[in-house]
Amino acid sequence: MGKPVLVVSSGAGISAESGISTFRDAGGLWENYPVMDVASATGFRRNPELVHRFYNERRKALLEAQPNAAHRALVDLERDFDVYVITQNVDDLHERAGSSHVLHLHGELMKIRSVTDPDYVETLDIDHLETTPATRGRNGQLMRPHIVFFEEPVPNIEPAIELVRRADVFVVVGTSLVVYPAAGLMQFVRPGVPVYYIDPHPAAVGPDVYVIARKASEGMAELAELLERRV
Ligand code: APR
Repeated sequence: MGKPVLVVSSGAGISAESGISTFRDAGGLWENYPVMDVASATGFRRNPELVHRFYNERRKALLEAQPNAAHRALVDLERDFDVYVITQNVDDLHERAGSSHVLHLHGELMKIRSVTDPDYVETLDIDHLETTPATRGRNGQLMRPHIVFFEEPVPNIEPAIELVRRADVFVVVGTSLVVYPAAGLMQFVRPGVPVYYIDPHPAAVGPDVYVIARKASEGMAELAELLERRV
């Protein structure tokens, strides 16, 4: 008998305490950059230079950031659960905290991919994090940020749904639940599977969701205690 399966869906809020801006909070990324200019397929076609610069800036910010207590709490839960992290975040803080299973829905900041072959992906070298529209991969192809732009499909949503279907516990942390298909994951839990939602300003959710209206580091500590009593 393996460990119970705990699936987590995380958003920008889990990285807020690492000093990384969220998107829609006051002062968030979308207040300074029109999202359609820097994070959509149309914007990328119109002005690839601006888009590369936007992600270069976010990579630089990521270098200064460290995983926080919430990321680490998810790793600690691996003692009692098989923990699968599904994240909308493009940072690598879950990986750096030591989570064993991380599935990125919206891409990965530290990776670039071929403009023509979406399966050809390279991890950026820590000393060469800046890209431009002229950046080429080792195979000579022009490269782009390995980010899922608005107006593009989310290739990892199917495996993400499969994980949620297997969950014995489902946790949503640090997301405004505004962007689909990620926001719809909780509907795939099996009947009777407990759903927890940790967010200091939680979006409206169904009556069966156990809401912990606290920031991620505190909410994850409270959740760990709740789960201790269940295991
Ligand atoms: N701890 C937990 N949650 C927090 C914290 C914190 N310390 N600070 C803020 N939050 C919450 C906010 O209350 C909000 O609900 O994090 C959430 C951030 O919401 P968004 O900025 O909309 O981020 P997210 O939900 O991840 O956005 C989804 O939208 O722009 C696209 O592709 C981008 O992946 C992103 C997607």
